[in-house]
Amino acid sequence: MAIIIVTGSVGTGKTTYARSFAKKKNYTYIDVNKIIDAHKKRVDAKYNRGDKCYDVNTDKLNKILITRIKEAKKNKESLVIDSHLSHYLPKRYVDKCIVMRCFDLKKLRRRLQKRNYSKRKIDENLEAEIMESCLQDAIAFGHKVKIVDTEKTKR
Ligand SMILES: Nc1ncnc2c1ncn2[C@@H]1O[C@H](COP(=O)(O)OP(=O)(O)OP(=O)(O)O)[C@@H](O)[C@H]1O
Ligand SMILES: [Mg+2]
Repeated sequence: MAIIIVTGSVGTGKTTYARSFAKKKNYTYIDVNKIIDAHKKRVDAKYNRGDKCYDVNTDKLNKILITRIKEAKKNKESLVIDSHLSHYLPKRYVDKCIVMRCFDLKKLRRRLQKRNYSKRKIDENLEAEIMESCLQDAIAFGHKVKIVDTEKTKR
């Protein structure tokens, strides 16, 4: 069994990749957004009007995810956890951290524009990808990191 997390900047293709990876390997796909939705109070979810998303307390979110991971381990179930917050999990619970990258910034911009995000939100997310925020955080957290280039994955 394995616990795989899929992280990366907004729109880099985490969900697309995580779903197809889980299907191929017969692992359970975990949508962290759904968990946040179901536990808004427990994770101190605060709606961020500017970015039209929820800001959450990652320590509290980790507690829920760790409970799910422990359950999976008991049942010998493998998980693919999809979230740009997944790399905040302590490394001892994670076998592999996949960081999705979209090196073609024009393509990433187009993907974000399609979602009708504000210019500020698009610029901030492009900057996060340029700065490799998720990758650097994942490395700092000590995860076994594998970079997946969205261009080189089939949908
Ligand atoms: N390998 C790929 N090739 C081309 N387009 C892709 C690929 N993967 C994802 N996309 C497109 O990029 C967009 C974003 O993909 P996706 O929703 O998987 O990203 P995400 O990282 O999960 O986004 P979010 O951070 O909002 O959860 C979608 O329109 C999707 O169709
Ligand atoms: Mg997604």
